[in-house]
Amino acid sequence: MSRLVVEHGTVVTSEGSVAADVLVEGERIAALLAPGAPIVSGSDLRRIDAAGKLVVPGGIDVHTHMEMPFGGTSSSDTFATGTRAAAWGGTTTIVDFAIQPRGGSPRQGLETWMARADGRCAIDYGFHMILSDVTDDALKEMHGLVDDGVTSFKLFMAYPGVLYSDDGQILRAMQAAATCGATIMMHAENGIAIDVLVSEALARGQGEPRLHGETRPAVLEGEATHRAIVLAGVAGCPLYIVHLSAAEALAEVAAARDAGALVFAETCPQYLFLDEGLMDGPGFEGAKAVCSPPLRPSAHHDAMWRGLGTDDLSVVATDHCPFCFKGQKELGRGDFSKIPNGLPGVEHRMDLIYQGVESHRITPERWVELTSTAPARIFGLYPKKGTLLPGADADIVVYDPERAHTLSAASHHMAVDYSVYEGMMMTGGVDTVISRGTLVLSDATYEGREGHGRFVARTRFGGVDVPVGRVGARAAP
Ligand code: URP
Ligand code: ZN
Ligand code: ZN
Repeated sequence: MSRLVVEHGTVVTSEGSVAADVLVEGERIAALLAPGAPIVSGSDLRRIDAAGKLVVPGGIDVHTHMEMPFGGTSSSDTFATGTRAAAWGGTTTIVDFAIQPRGGSPRQGLETWMARADGRCAIDYGFHMILSDVTDDALKEMHGLVDDGVTSFKLFMAYPGVLYSDDGQILRAMQAAATCGATIMMHAENGIAIDVLVSEALARGQGEPRLHGETRPAVLEGEATHRAIVLAGVAGCPLYIVHLSAAEALAEVAAARDAGALVFAETCPQYLFLDEGLMDGPGFEGAKAVCSPPLRPSAHHDAMWRGLGTDDLSVVATDHCPFCFKGQKELGRGDFSKIPNGLPGVEHRMDLIYQGVESHRITPERWVELTSTAPARIFGLYPKKGTLLPGADADIVVYDPERAHTLSAASHHMAVDYSVYEGMMMTGGVDTVISRGTLVLSDATYEGREGHGRFVARTRFGGVDVPVGRVGARAAP
């Protein structure tokens, strides 16, 4: 059995920070040891020096879209390139989205995405299921998918005619989720109203990328978030709002959580760092910044940082969905509604959120919680992942808080021809990445392997074997 020790570093978990050595045996963490404690060592023990560095659980990005068909093209990172880029940035697990084909079954969608990822990933991966066609059969299938470790389902209040579900379909899916222990993830934007605004803008001859933002106002995210929360309350299922971008939506989540609702939300680095003005770039450059929900004015960024502090935002994921500018974003020249929606980011999440530590907005422990532990807990990966406790998978990142570097398309590893963070200077960077006991990045040199990553079956919400709805029912008088 291979053995290694990460020594002389500061171990940071969501619980606290301590000087400790981390002993790894095979694929698992064997022990946290007092610094310098003797290890019965054979010649096989590999030593990794983490002096002056932070030793943290590997990042978990629960919102990626590799090879996703969208708007007549597919996102440009494959499972091979996207997971490699994720590893470069200190992420050791992704949870991507399989899609139920319209007119087809969720199981078919899962098989398609499993085949795409199988043997290609550099790090471990799981799947959520996007329900694009909420039929009786699809609802029945949810139970089997949950048994197979696909324990979360995304629904869309946006994109009518493509991925959209109406309120009745949403409620039925939520009811099914409540009975099988699944979590509903929601893209909360009022797509019916947005489509009216989009048609009006195009009819006025306004087709430039800036209109993407103007036709998706924050209030329509707030309204949809409210509706999703109400529907989840009626059904009694856990709800997770994805890619939350607007202060209006955050206020709805905060009110629901204050009232004790089982509601969680994630935001993404783009909603913390990037301004709506990027959509108004010269020529067609604004297309590079088109994603949904759209980038917001910077006042919303402050609200998002506050939400990360109060835990009304529990997770930072990337919504990594890259499209090259050349040949892909360009599909929307003259008609912003045809620009494929999505931004690249899987490689930069740990560094970007670490800037919040640098600027004293969050603690190092909260950084770990937002990027690893909380996503693991909410999505049924904990305590296998998201922690450095003995017995956990040895997914470990050695992070150098002093490493200065600049984000750029010239140096990133994502298969996309631009960076939305071009020229942004980072303090802090990844030194070493270990995935299930295997070195993937060593002293900033890539040692990973396509196919090392394995599918991870996730547990039901709360890590329990019975749905929370049923637990609640048992407790009721
Ligand atoms: O613009 C985005 N967010 N593209 C990816 C698909 C989604 O809605 O998450
Ligand atoms: Zn979405
Ligand atoms: Zn997404």
